[in-house]
Amino acid sequence: MSWLIKPLEIHRKLIGDHIRNDAFFSAMKKVVKPKTTTVIDLGSGSGFLSFLATKSLDAKRCVLYESDPAAMSLSKELAHNNKITNLIFRNQDSREVKKSPHKGEVVISETLGTYALEENILETLRHGREFLTPDGIIIPGILRQYVAPVISSEPNDTVVGPWSSAATRYDLNLTAASKRSASNMYSLKIKPEQLGGDRRMFDEIDFNRDPVEQLKSVRKSPECTVYGFCVWWDAELVKGVTLSTSPYSEMTHWEQCYLPLHPTLKCDGEDVVSLTIESDSSNNEGCLVDWTTTQKKNGREDS
Ligand SMILES: C[S@@+](CC[C@H](N)C(=O)[O-])C[C@H]1O[C@@H](n2cnc3c(N)ncnc32)[C@H](O)[C@@H]1O
Repeated sequence: MSWLIKPLEIHRKLIGDHIRNDAFFSAMKKVVKPKTTTVIDLGSGSGFLSFLATKSLDAKRCVLYESDPAAMSLSKELAHNNKITNLIFRNQDSREVKKSPHKGEVVISETLGTYALEENILETLRHGREFLTPDGIIIPGILRQYVAPVISSEPNDTVVGPWSSAATRYDLNLTAASKRSASNMYSLKIKPEQLGGDRRMFDEIDFNRDPVEQLKSVRKSPECTVYGFCVWWDAELVKGVTLSTSPYSEMTHWEQCYLPLHPTLKCDGEDVVSLTIESDSSNNEGCLVDWTTTQKKNGREDS
């Protein structure tokens, strides 16, 4: 049964995140009408959200789409053990469904990553409208992404530290590995005091409309070194229920997304640092994220 270990580990972490669970439960509570609503669960995993919708909120039925056979099989077993019968299981990627035989008043998808788009929620929910009845509701409805400069060296020490300490200890040159680590994206706990003062929203996606690409710049706080950027998101699941991975909110299993800089940027009070983030979640392999910074020193631009 070793094939179950990896997927189970992911779902174990999700189920342990009560902030996440409570937010999705509160959102469904607002929109699921007992014995009336059909919920389409895109990326159903262990089946947890569908169990809440049917068993706790008495939804008419749930249709569960899950591409991972191990997770699907687990969700069937859990449904059986909980005597939940009004579920329809589909072991396939929802995006491959050409014409859905089942439509729902609610389409829900918890396919959010630490970097919000890394699990292809954009594609899944754009296609997910196919499953929606007219006037139906998509959860989450709106996703907002934020960024702030990190002016503490601690997160960088965490990501490149193992290379440098092994290099010192065993007298090796591990700089090439260290550099590569510094261009990766991380899930880390970032403390508010590690941030430069200025945080910005750089992206807003309304899943009920076509997403618009947006780009914003970030200014640093005066006299500091920028070591990287902290990225987080707020998901307005439904009006009045927001789930957040902000360093200023209670910690979720997603932690924060950390984008290190190599080299780091020494800034004085007059400099302006801009960040461009490009992500491509349209491929089936995952999500490619690219970030570049420019620093304007006395009007001169360095990349
Ligand atoms: C983050 S987990 C969420 C599981 C569950 N909904 C929950 O909230 O506990 C996302 C799951 O969605 C599946 N998944 C992602 N995109 C999918 C898609 N478009 N169609 C079917 N499954 C998908 C993944 O295999 C994974 O099991």
